[in-house]
Amino acid sequence: MADGSNGKPKTELLDQLEKGPWPSFVKEIKSACETSDAPKDLLGQLELSYKEKKGHWKHGGLVGVLGYGGGVIGRYSDIPEQFPKVAHFHTMRINHPAGWFYTSDALRTICDIWERHGSGLTNMHGSTGDIILLGTTTDQLEPTFQELANAGFDLGGSGSDLRTPSCCVGQARCEWACYDTMKLCYDLTMNYQDELHRPAFAYKFKIKMAGCPNDCVASIARADCSVIGTWKDDIQVDEGEVAKYAAGGLDIQKEVCSLCPSKCMEWDGKKLAIENHECVRCMHCINVMPKALRPGKERGAVVLLGAKAPIMQGALLSSVLIPFVPADEIEETLKELFTRIWEFWDEYGRSRERVGELIQRVGMSAFLEGIGLDPAPEMVSAPRDNPYIYFQNVEGGDK
Ligand code: HEM
Ligand code: HEM
Ligand code: SF4
Ligand code: SF4
Repeated sequence: MADGSNGKPKTELLDQLEKGPWPSFVKEIKSACETSDAPKDLLGQLELSYKEKKGHWKHGGLVGVLGYGGGVIGRYSDIPEQFPKVAHFHTMRINHPAGWFYTSDALRTICDIWERHGSGLTNMHGSTGDIILLGTTTDQLEPTFQELANAGFDLGGSGSDLRTPSCCVGQARCEWACYDTMKLCYDLTMNYQDELHRPAFAYKFKIKMAGCPNDCVASIARADCSVIGTWKDDIQVDEGEVAKYAAGGLDIQKEVCSLCPSKCMEWDGKKLAIENHECVRCMHCINVMPKALRPGKERGAVVLLGAKAPIMQGALLSSVLIPFVPADEIEETLKELFTRIWEFWDEYGRSRERVGELIQRVGMSAFLEGIGLDPAPEMVSAPRDNPYIYFQNVEGGDK
């Protein structure tokens, strides 16, 4: 690639992406050129990819740190003669603090370490949650890992292991959190360090925790196990605040009651009535009137299982496994549940078969029996509409 006049690669296509109001990643990469050589070659290779409309990373790459089987994603340029500084360009996943709360001290520590050992480029954060340190060479992996470990940071997950769990900000900043998402996230992460660092599963397994059904970490779509806060008793209503919303011009009938999916609310101009036994805890009314309504007092979570992206058998959202676990029992329940699920998955899961696909293949009833759970009506949105029902032979039954 021809060098530009200032020693930087000529990047006519990428330069166009410095225009416009949104923060430009091209500007960021250019500014990272001040502390490292790799970003320059990264820009060069990316410009070439823009021109040719194809990637220039080799297939795969197996690197890591001693003692761990995951956490680093190896990557090599397929044109290293042209871009030697990104000949190796490995990514390190660093386990983020629950809820992504940092002190500037913590961030400075990470930045200093990464400027010494890597490209200076990051992704804050990877979709699973990790801090992504983007681009270093194989010989720098151990020293970076050592320094990070000394500063209190560990690698996150990758490969067929428990991936880095993540959660919404929960009780730290949200009045709707029905349990302490950050504590649960941290505790599970610590409890399953072995499963996280040393891949032992048939495939990946992700856990995400949301404090309420708004699901701000998208746990229902992006985690094999989704833990979503909910409540059992009545929505808490502050009549005075409801009146203030009405006085402030909110059309409660139109904006709240008519949009309630179970049509269990009524507003007569003075009093808001909620048939709580019909409420499906969709959060809509609470979202619209946060000062007047809040989740009930008997709080806990629903545990769902099976979400995944399309490959192989099609995309899945998690589906209900345990309709309600009281807040103070969530952690113990999950630990017991994971023991059983992982055992069943170890035994029957095919290589690279997600838990959601395993359930589809063996059937929910076999899966439930395998992990020792009873079927519950909350597990289905509708009963089956075909008659291909399998009955188990019972002793003394029809032969
Ligand atoms: C559990 C499996 C099956 C179900 C639920 C099923 C159901 C049906 C139904 C609902 C009809 C239409 C009846 C009508 O409109 O009067 C039908 C027709 C028919 N089925 Fe089945 N069937 C099954 C298996 C089979 C099998 C295994 C065969 C052949 C190997 C078969 C051959 C036929 C034939 C030839 C017709 C008549 C089609 C016609 O006259 O247009 N069915 N079946
Ligand atoms: C020449 C045509 C067919 C052949 C050779 C054939 C063969 C078979 C065989 C060997 C089985 C497995 C039986 C077992 O494992 O117990 C089976 C099951 C089945 N077949 Fe067919 N089949 C034919 C046509 C059809 C047709 C046309 C239909 C539907 C319209 C059909 C519906 C089914 C169903 C629903 C089962 C599963 C039954 C169960 O789960 O117990 N088959 N078939
Ligand atoms: S998921 Fe619910 S509890 Fe968590 S941050 Fe979002 S609204 Fe708040
Ligand atoms: S949470 Fe949803 S279902 Fe329940 S009363 Fe409010 S709007 Fe209706």
